Amino acid sequence: MPEKRMAELIDIINRTSYEYYVLDMPTITDQEYDDYYMELLRLEEKYPELKRVDSPTNRVGGDALTKFEKVIHQTPMLSFDDIFNEDEIRAFDERIRKSINNPEYTLEPKMDGLSGSLIYEKGVLVRAATRGDGVTGEDITINVKTIRTVPLRLTREIDIEVRGEIYMSYDSFNKANKEREKNNQPLFANPRNAAAGSVRQLDSKITAKRNLDFMAYFIPNPEDYGIKYQSDSLEFLHELGFKTNYNLNKVASSVEEINAYIADLGEKRESLPFAIDGVVLKVNSLADEAKLGFTSRVPRWGIAYKFPAVEVLTTLHEIKCTVGRTGKITPNAIFSPVHVDGSLVAKATLHNEDYIKDKDIRVGDVIVIRKAGDVIPEVKEVKFERRSEDVLPYIMITKCPICGTELIKKDAHHFCPNEVCPAREAEKLIHFASRDAMNIDGFGDAICEDFYNMGYLNDVTDFYHLKEHKEELMTLEGFGEKSINNLLESIENSKHNSLERLLFGLGIRHVGAKKAKLLAKRYKDLDTLAKASFEDLADIADIGDIIALSIVDFFNKEENKIIIEKLREYGLNFAYINDDYHEIEDFVGKTFVLTGALETITRDEAGLLIENAGGKVSSSVSAKTYAVIVGDSPGSKYTKALSLNIPIWSEKDFLEKINK
Ligand code: IVH
Repeated sequence: MPEKRMAELIDIINRTSYEYYVLDMPTITDQEYDDYYMELLRLEEKYPELKRVDSPTNRVGGDALTKFEKVIHQTPMLSFDDIFNEDEIRAFDERIRKSINNPEYTLEPKMDGLSGSLIYEKGVLVRAATRGDGVTGEDITINVKTIRTVPLRLTREIDIEVRGEIYMSYDSFNKANKEREKNNQPLFANPRNAAAGSVRQLDSKITAKRNLDFMAYFIPNPEDYGIKYQSDSLEFLHELGFKTNYNLNKVASSVEEINAYIADLGEKRESLPFAIDGVVLKVNSLADEAKLGFTSRVPRWGIAYKFPAVEVLTTLHEIKCTVGRTGKITPNAIFSPVHVDGSLVAKATLHNEDYIKDKDIRVGDVIVIRKAGDVIPEVKEVKFERRSEDVLPYIMITKCPICGTELIKKDAHHFCPNEVCPAREAEKLIHFASRDAMNIDGFGDAICEDFYNMGYLNDVTDFYHLKEHKEELMTLEGFGEKSINNLLESIENSKHNSLERLLFGLGIRHVGAKKAKLLAKRYKDLDTLAKASFEDLADIADIGDIIALSIVDFFNKEENKIIIEKLREYGLNFAYINDDYHEIEDFVGKTFVLTGALETITRDEAGLLIENAGGKVSSSVSAKTYAVIVGDSPGSKYTKALSLNIPIWSEKDFLEKINK
């Protein structure tokens, strides 16, 4: 009876892994666990038709996806307003007391990860989604199944949605970064970024290796289970088999208790195995919650208190100037590495000479490094009382640290005017390979610089020539066949990128990722853009004279023409790949004319919407025109349309049809 044995094995494995991962209390040895697991795996291989959706063997991930499907949340996934000090806590409590007598609050650690929604049907996990914009999220079920602390089957056969935080423990974060360091990949800045990056992997096998965790804290419809208090929701989640912060969550009924809890948790914070960034306060009684309701954005019955920015002292060893892609010089503070708010930090930008002078930052000073959550670490101030007598004011460099050219000053910044300064060249390579540009995995700062210095990469076209040096590269210290193969594969993949990535990667001045997308959508391929006139470009809303000039200049330069021809020879895609294309019946194969000023969107945007829906835009009205979309003060196209009896659509008509 394989079915019966398989059910037994699933029960044993799910129970023991619950004991191990959720309760942190293993009851069997690793060897025993592995034996059960292998037995189940073999049975599933032999009887694939009997494999169950809640089988723990699903936790290894599955086939890679090409994209995440969108899902609409059954109840919107809101978040709370943030507050930062005791006064705001008191104000929150006073506000609640205006409508509720003697309110009670649950106090819960504010987990620093990303929120996720899990849907169970008859106790079986059927869907997991990211928060997204709160209304629509992404389906990450296959990835979430790899998270050991997410039960694949609950202790009860109920339909329920559970929300909580997907996060990465410090342990797993450190391991992931060690691995990345070994593979020359850019390190994760903090556990939250690591968790977000891992759960949004199209290849769930990668997610499975990252050891994510899930902390449950919320049931959107608790009344369906007879629950009357948030504290009971937390209890219920625990009973269902979820990991909850049951030893840290608390109920309180006064501001004093809340403050004491915050102080206490602040002290425990350093020793917790995961990152938290504050305390979440929720009115405990669900009847009270219902009474308080929501503002247009957030629940009135809860709030998120955020811990203050963390400040740490360290010693400034060096002010090191780096040269950017445009030749801009940036002074950086290099100091003894310190842990600040969950990340290890050893350097911070000092922006420019004035910034250093204003704060009077000197090498040898004891400095205060400050960081809060997402915020990039900064040198907050100098501890002047700890300055020794022999430290000297900083004198800004006058020559490029890389090529020795005399620097020039423009406004607050110094620049290296040497167009072929090697630093600028290496920065161009780093930029080209970066995530928002060509996204060539594995080519972070260090490797681009090394390959540049060794002569393998002189300009961006050399990425596509690297495979000719494969044998040589494999002999370099720190590389093997596998890592070189991975690099070459990422390079090969980047050839198929849509135009906007290439455009951004080429590093045209003033053309950031957003503008690149706009241009790619409008011109459709690189050659058409390269031929566009200044007037044509400057005419586009959001482009303007400065950017238009920079684009025209770029494509006129002989060295850029050579680069583009080489990239063409290497087989790079030069076309815009439209991922917004979604046919709408009213538009497919039909021709539209736009006239007059539209109110809520520009004519260009409307044109794009029409094309994305499968239609065409023409500049003149003829018998073939399907409809004319008319804004304010329309021109002769409007009268012509009337005379030809062509349907006239208002902006509202148009938007209604296009939104269908
Ligand atoms: S309850 C209506 N409980 O912090 C909000 N959220 O602003 C329901 N978070 O986006 C969420 N720990 O990602 C809740 N114990 C906790 C939390 C928590 C962290 C996150 C969550 C949410 C934000 C709250």
